[in-house]
Amino acid sequence: MSQQATYLINIDDYESAAQAKLPKMVYDYYASGAHDEITLRENHAAYDRIKLQYRVLIDITQKTLKTEVLGHEVEMPVLIAPTAFQRMANELGEVATARAAGKTGTIMVLSTLSNSSIEEVVQAASFPIWFQLYMYKDRGATAGLVKRAEAAGCKAIVLTVDAPMWGRRERDVRNRFQPPKDLTVKNLMPAGLEQFPQDVADSGLAAYIASVIDPSVTWKDVEWLGANTKLPLLIKGIVRGDDAKRAVDSGVAGVIVSNHGGRQLDTSPATIEVLPEIVDAVAGRVEVLIDGGIRRGTDVVKAIALGARAVLVGRPILWGLAVEGQHGVERILNILRTEFDLAMGLCGCTSVEEIQRDLIFSPPAISRSHPLPE
Ligand code: FNR
Ligand code: LAC
Repeated sequence: MSQQATYLINIDDYESAAQAKLPKMVYDYYASGAHDEITLRENHAAYDRIKLQYRVLIDITQKTLKTEVLGHEVEMPVLIAPTAFQRMANELGEVATARAAGKTGTIMVLSTLSNSSIEEVVQAASFPIWFQLYMYKDRGATAGLVKRAEAAGCKAIVLTVDAPMWGRRERDVRNRFQPPKDLTVKNLMPAGLEQFPQDVADSGLAAYIASVIDPSVTWKDVEWLGANTKLPLLIKGIVRGDDAKRAVDSGVAGVIVSNHGGRQLDTSPATIEVLPEIVDAVAGRVEVLIDGGIRRGTDVVKAIALGARAVLVGRPILWGLAVEGQHGVERILNILRTEFDLAMGLCGCTSVEEIQRDLIFSPPAISRSHPLPE
């Protein structure tokens, strides 16, 4: 293990080390949220406001962290969220991340806007890869991405629905963010859609998205997609119970409660705050996953207790990748694993199934008329 890694013991440590290592424009792109970054901060702060009312005197010597997500066994209920442009963090980018996912036994969701092709990522993987899809205006290009994901061996399609317009990340505007010229979004080359507008007034990525991503997507397109793939379909970016119900009625296999890591609509609620509404609306008909602000093992316990099948992490993976490539991603996942194991044990849980809603502390309603004991 590298000398530096011994001093990096949690996700915040890796973020600080990544910030010191990455060019400012790249760190800012990875770290940023929309506008005042209120939702970005709230995504994690909301977890801190949730307290765990643990049980005692339970033998927790034998614990298992394993669970199943869409029928795939994973070593822990922590998956890798799709994040674009990973070769800005490390020269192997998404390929390194896929290798780390396989080594630690979890599922990676590969972004449409990855710097590595679907094929090379799946080839490097030893665990399931899901493909995250943006609906392009060019439906032929969109269908082409789905067919390539299927042919390459991806095990699910994740349609992202919270970005019909691009969230305004003011750090990118100030930096006039442009992906490095030597990196491209490889998956869009066959469709000739890999070029980024040059010399734009603010974010080059925002200009690209506005020119190619379809803002007219509706539930009809979800049905079109479902009819055009044999892979299970998940919808990512849901924050309402009624939308989650519509997703289930549209035949999806799963819902990912997400606000894009606070990068889209600022002042949307923290994902953990809307999770219960969505879990209740879905009523066990499909699996519910969640991402946004998960930085500690206790956050994983809280999300599971409130009904998530599993969580996904985005930025923490980028910090590990930036600092130590594949090994850094493995370190991040193993830090979360160790913390999750400790949180489970201290809650008195020996399996993921034992993590239930009654672990979440709800303070007693203290009413004025409540007679105090004599
Ligand atoms: C993202 N996210 C994202 N989501 C998606 O559907 N497709 C994508 O290409 C990307 N790209 C991306 C890049 C970067 C730099 C970030 C930070 C995020 C959103 C991502 O999948 C996830 O929803 C959030 O990152 C989860 O929040 P945390 O874990 O980063 O707090
Ligand atoms: C982002 C995109 C790529 O949030 O989803 O940067």
